[in-house]
Parts: sequence; structure tokens; C-alpha cells
Amino acid sequence: MPAKDLEQIVNLCKRRGFVYPSAEIYGGFRSSYDYGPLGSLMLRNVKDAWVRTMVQMRDDTVLIDAAILGPPQVFEASGHLANFSDPLVDCTVCKRRFREDQLETRDCPQSMKGCQFTEARAFNLMFKTTAGPVEGSGAEVYLRPETAQGMFVNFSNVLQTSRKKPPFGIAQVGKSFRNEITPGNFIFRTREFEQMELEFFAPPAEGPKWYEYWCNERMEWYVSLGIPREMLRIRAHDADELSHYSAGTSDVEFMFPWGWGELEGIAQRTDYDLTQHATHSGQRLEYFDQASGEHYVPYVVEPAAGANRTMAAFLLAAYDEEEVNGESRTILRLHPRLAPYKVAVLPLSKKDTLLPLAREVHSRVAARWMCDYDETQQIGRRYRRQDEIGTPLCVTVDFDSLEDGAVTVRERDSMEQVRVPIDGLVEELTRRLGF
Ligand code: GAP
Repeated sequence: MPAKDLEQIVNLCKRRGFVYPSAEIYGGFRSSYDYGPLGSLMLRNVKDAWVRTMVQMRDDTVLIDAAILGPPQVFEASGHLANFSDPLVDCTVCKRRFREDQLETRDCPQSMKGCQFTEARAFNLMFKTTAGPVEGSGAEVYLRPETAQGMFVNFSNVLQTSRKKPPFGIAQVGKSFRNEITPGNFIFRTREFEQMELEFFAPPAEGPKWYEYWCNERMEWYVSLGIPREMLRIRAHDADELSHYSAGTSDVEFMFPWGWGELEGIAQRTDYDLTQHATHSGQRLEYFDQASGEHYVPYVVEPAAGANRTMAAFLLAAYDEEEVNGESRTILRLHPRLAPYKVAVLPLSKKDTLLPLAREVHSRVAARWMCDYDETQQIGRRYRRQDEIGTPLCVTVDFDSLEDGAVTVRERDSMEQVRVPIDGLVEELTRRLGF
């Protein structure tokens, strides 16, 4: 059974060191989070799994890492300065601000009935700051609200240096920033977050084909990493939901405890961005097809996912509680690729006779995978701890190991235990983990 309540995950994340409220010793910094020893590993695993599928396993995509700060010209051209805003209303009673499109009635959720809202105003979501010691015009810069613009402004650079030709994609993983009016639901909506985006450049006639292709591919990615299909759906946007650059978008949505929520949008950005940047920069942003002798502006299909809310979805879907011998056991049934630790090495006792061998086993395993080592507490409690943080395999070194050169491998989900010779341990763990 996946988690029914967001609090189950929020508590586990705090208790076990996945995610903490940011600046907690100062009372917290609203809707910002820090990723702890386990959360930082898992978030990295989510991003690595995405890069593996979207770049490593393909021959038609490349990865870049562009700047987070950008000059106003980029966002003038992309349309974000003019259009990247939410409609904001003020309640004249409680003075709080709300997104008009998220209000269910004309009554303020705080002041309730009879309140008055001001007329809606467009509130730009970009964070602005100044670069260099001089304030004033020319020094303004923006924190990127999406990683995508890095791909568009580097289109020619990548085309020339990678020797790719359409259809091909440019991928990027990195931080984006939005001054959200209503952040919330833990790490679902924050002002600072990480995106995993691909801009896929295709000959214009192939646009619809690739849109359909990417909708399917992206849905299957979540399923392949363990989210039950029935907790996912694809939903096409209504015309009034579309971003300023999109001719059509479908979201991959996950059944969060509060209802369906977006994990990723697959958008048909068409030739909008390249054309805009070509006009504003005066550079030609086209592809020359030698076979046909034609210049054309590629059509872009963009699968754009959020790493943080995807991590929340993986945690919620993996959460399970069950009863074992009259005791309750909490387990994160995470896919091994996503689990913070793949293996934990647990010496049965802290006695000096056992520890050198346990350390040697840890070194062998840690050379291959992220591996925990824990010699405290009774073994049953240590197994429970590893279950709760999603470690797929535990390796127990006991006194027999000194005699027979073998260890016990225990599986998280089945709790099955088998004896394995230390010499063949890495091969056996590889077989069980699948990589
Ligand atoms: N380049 C297109 C783009 O940025 P988006 O739908 O606005 O599209 C893509 O964002 C993904 O980024 C979303 O599906 C979501 O997973 C993530 N995302 C967007 N805003 C976020 C926020 N405030 N907090 C956490 N994740 C967010």
C-alpha cells in the first residue's frame, strides 16, 4: 500500500535524514528544504536515472549544463518577462495574497465568507537580482525560471560541436527558480527546485509524431522505476492552461494524497523559441539540410520534469507498512536505482575479531555501489532501519564468516536470507540488484 497521507513521508524524511526544513535553527525558511544524507543521494539517483534513460541509452541526445543567471535579453526574447506570470488577488480583510486561478470560490480561504478581493494583477514569477557592484540599468539579471532557455541559446553551439542533426535532443538537469505565490505540499511546489528537461529538435513535419513518442516514453520511465501504472495518467491541457510558448501540452500526473498532480509536462514548443531568439539576437538559428538544400527552423518537443516532486512521488509510491511476527515494519520499496544505499554491511557484533572482515567486505562493496555500514544496535533493529530507508540488500558478517568465508545476504522485500561466499559476493549482489 502506498502512503495515504503526505505526513507519513514528511515524518520519515525528517526522521531518517532525507529532507529537512531549510534554516530550521532560525525557525525555517518558508517552503524551502535541505536534502540530508539520504535525500541528497536519492535526489541524485533520480537525476542520474533520468540522464541514463534520456542521454546515456540514446544516440540522438546530448547533455549540457548552462548558466543559472541570465541577462534580460534572454527572457525578453523567450517571452518570460512579458508572460511568465500568475494572476494574483489580495484579500482586503486578511491582506493575504492568492492565485486567482486556484481559488475555488469568491470567498477567501482565510477570512471566509463576505470578504472582498482586489482585481487580479499579473505577478511575474521570475527572481531578479543585480550583477556587479553597480546597481541600475544594465546590471539586472534573472535567475532562470526553466532550464530550457539554456538549450535554445546554445542551439548553434551544440549543432556545430556535437555533429548531431535533427531529429536530436539537448538535455539539461539543474536548478530553476520561481517566486511562487502559493508554494506548498512539502517538496511538490517550492521556489527553488530542480528540473530535468529535454529540448528535442525535429524537422517540422515530424513534430506530431515526436510529441506522441515522448508522451509514451516519459510515462514508461516512471513505470520502469516502480510507480504503479494506476497511480499515473496522461492529461492533455485545455487551451486556457497552455504556456505562452506551447501549441499543445500533456502532463504526466501522479495520484498524490491530495489528488492528481503534475510530475512532468510534454510541450509542443514548435519553432517559437528559436524564432524568438533569432529575431532578438540577429543570429540565424536554423538547420541546413544538405540533402534537400533547405534551411529550416526545427520544431521542438519538450519533455520537462521536476526532480524534487518526482522524488516525492517515488517515495509515496514506495512507502509500505506491514505486520511481521506481530510487529509493524515500515518499508520503502524503492527501485534499486533510486534507493540511497544499494547495500548495507552489518557486522553481527562489535567484537574486534569480526570488524576487520566486516570492513573488508564494506570496502569491496562500496567500491561498486553506495553502501552503508552500521555496527550499532541489535541486528533486527538494524534490518528495520535499512527497510525504512529503502536499502534493497543487507550483508551480515557473523562469526561463522571467519570460518567459512561466507556472509548472509538479506533481501528487503521478501526478507529472504541466503548464505553467499565473500569471493562471489559482488557478482551475487550485481545479479540481485540488476546492475
Ligand atoms: N520548460 C518547461 C517548464 O518549465 P513547467 O511545467 O513549468 O514547464 C516543468 O515545469 C516541471 O518542473 C513541472 O512538471 C514540475 O515537475 C517542475 N516544477 C515546476 N515548478 C515547480 C515548483 N515550483 N516546484 C517544484 N517543481 C516545479
